[in-house]
Amino acid sequence: MHIYFRLEGKVAIITGGASGIGAATTNLFVENGALVIIADIDDELGTNLVQTLGSHIVSYKHCDVTIETDMEALIAFTLAKWGKLDIMISNVGVLGKDASEIMNVDMVNFHDVMSVNVYGMTLAIKHASKAMIEARTKGVIILRVLLLERHHLYTLSRSMLFLG
Ligand SMILES: NC(=O)c1ccc[n+]([C@@H]2O[C@H](COP(=O)([O-])OP(=O)(O)OC[C@H]3O[C@@H](n4cnc5c(N)ncnc54)[C@H](O)[C@@H]3O)[C@@H](O)[C@H]2O)c1
Repeated sequence: MHIYFRLEGKVAIITGGASGIGAATTNLFVENGALVIIADIDDELGTNLVQTLGSHIVSYKHCDVTIETDMEALIAFTLAKWGKLDIMISNVGVLGKDASEIMNVDMVNFHDVMSVNVYGMTLAIKHASKAMIEARTKGVIILRVLLLERHHLYTLSRSMLFLG
C-alpha cells in the first residue's frame, strides 16, 4: 500500500511541542513525514519525546518564547540542522490564573499572560518570517489561538493578535 506523507521533507518548529496539544502536533507531523524541532522550556519532556520518536527526525531545543535571544538561537539551530524552515507552529499559550471578573484583574498576571501570548507569539512570527523571507521559502506560520468565556486576560491577549 502506498502511504502518502503529506509533510515529507518539510521542516517544522513547534513551540510548546513537548507536551499537550504541542506534543500531539509533533506526533502528527512526524507521522506525516515532517522533520520537527520541539521548542520548549521543559527539557525533560522534550528530550523524552525525541527519544521516543527518533533523533533522526525530531530534535529538542530549549527555548523560552518570551526571550528574543532564545528565539534567534532556535531559528539558527533549525537552519544549521536542516538548512531551512518551512513551518512555524506558535503553539505556546498560557491561560493565566485570573478567570474572575474583569474589575479584579491582577496586573502582574496580566504581564505574564501578555508576555507569553502576545510578545512570545510576535517573536515567533518575527523570526520565522525573517528566516523564510531571506531564504525565499514559501512557508507557513500557524498561530494556535482560542477565545474563552471568563478567561479575560487570555481572550484579550489572543484578540490583540487579530488586531495586529
Ligand atoms: N487545552 C485546550 O483545551 C486548548 C484548546 C484550544 C487551544 N489551546 C491552546 O493550545 C496551546 C497549547 O495548549 P495545551 O493545553 O497543550 O498547553 P500545555 O500547558 O499542556 O502545554 C504547553 C507547553 O508549552 C510549554 N511552555 C510553557 N511556557 C513556555 C514558554 N515560555 N516557552 C516555551 N515553552 C513554554 C510547556 O512546557 C508545555 O510543554 C495553548 O496556546 C492553548 O491556549 C488549548
